[in-house]
Amino acid sequence: MTAENVLRALKAVSAGRAEDAVLSVRDLSVRFRLRGGRTVEAVSDAGFDLGAGECLALVGESGCGKSVLASALLGLLPGNAETSGTALLAGPEGAAATDLLAADEKTLARTVRGRRVGLVPQSPAAHLTPVRTVRSQLEETVRALTGTSRRARRRAAEDAAGRAAFPAGHLDRYPHELSGGLAQRAATALALIGDARLLLADEPTTGLDRDLVDRTADELRRHADDGRALLLITHDLAAAERIADRVAVMYAGRIVEIAPAHRFFGPAGPRHPYARGLLDALPDRAFTPIPGMPPELSALPEGCAFAPRCPLATELCSTRPEFTADLACHHPEHPRA
Ligand SMILES: Nc1ncnc2c1ncn2[C@@H]1O[C@H](COP(=O)(O)OP(=O)(O)OP(=O)(O)O)[C@@H](O)[C@H]1O
Ligand code: SF4
Ligand SMILES: [Mg+2]
Repeated sequence: MTAENVLRALKAVSAGRAEDAVLSVRDLSVRFRLRGGRTVEAVSDAGFDLGAGECLALVGESGCGKSVLASALLGLLPGNAETSGTALLAGPEGAAATDLLAADEKTLARTVRGRRVGLVPQSPAAHLTPVRTVRSQLEETVRALTGTSRRARRRAAEDAAGRAAFPAGHLDRYPHELSGGLAQRAATALALIGDARLLLADEPTTGLDRDLVDRTADELRRHADDGRALLLITHDLAAAERIADRVAVMYAGRIVEIAPAHRFFGPAGPRHPYARGLLDALPDRAFTPIPGMPPELSALPEGCAFAPRCPLATELCSTRPEFTADLACHHPEHPRA
């Protein structure tokens, strides 16, 4: 274990304590009402704490509710969504915390989004203004957040672009002139400008080659190392291994395990059978996909939603396992080492 990993491990042990948390989420549920009375249970009873200086990676198969969870925290859900639970965002320098799920749109728009909570969106093209160049959007964001002089704005915009590995020569391009990877980097630069205490990065490395993935991940890590908190939503387990302190695994709308990254990726491994399956599916590990498909979120079973795919399922699994001691499973796997 490197010295850096030891430090991370120590931090992971002390992380998760509500009193130190930048963000403290409890019982967060989001359901969508569909026509005909059907509902989609996109997120169910999610809970975690995220401390200053910490990176929590949120992983899980497509459609398990990761982006909906992030959107709920920023009040960006559509009108057919119903949200419950609490998500306390620590106040600036001793001020009272804000419950992001109870805050009104004015508070979220004026004081939270982009200022206290930054977002690297999963669909960057949709978040960039089509009729303005990247430079002008970066400078406008600097102006809105800091109100500095034109020269300082230009410098801050170029600095953010550099941090996100966005090439200076492309700053005067319009969004439609950017590849997917460049749009991704432009969105990351926009999110970094506010130096928000909490950064939600939703698949920030999609469309980037490995070198750029590592560079972007390292820049996000630096953001956390400066005392901020980072929620990294990603399919890229290598990026999560590179920068995360802890890993939260989501399945069918529920967080099923939260583990320190050094244990999750190390010889002991995660304890939830689904989390094991995710790791074993990687080409550089067992390269064995998890059989079957996740359930429809509009028709979730009473018991453990992973049971039809789980090699350890028993009759007991027809009752839902509680999430206790950072794990929701009736028959958790034993540590591998
Ligand atoms: N407005 C909506 N109305 C109904 N269902 C929705 C709505 N938005 C999202 N969903 C559903 O919520 C579930 C979770 O979606 P979400 O986008 O959070 O998945 P994800 O984990 O981010 O997936 P991916 O890894 O592909 O980005 C999906 O089943 C999706 O179809
Ligand atoms: S509760 Fe049962 S079915 Fe669900 S993951 Fe654990 S062992 Fe498998
Ligand atoms: Mg998503």
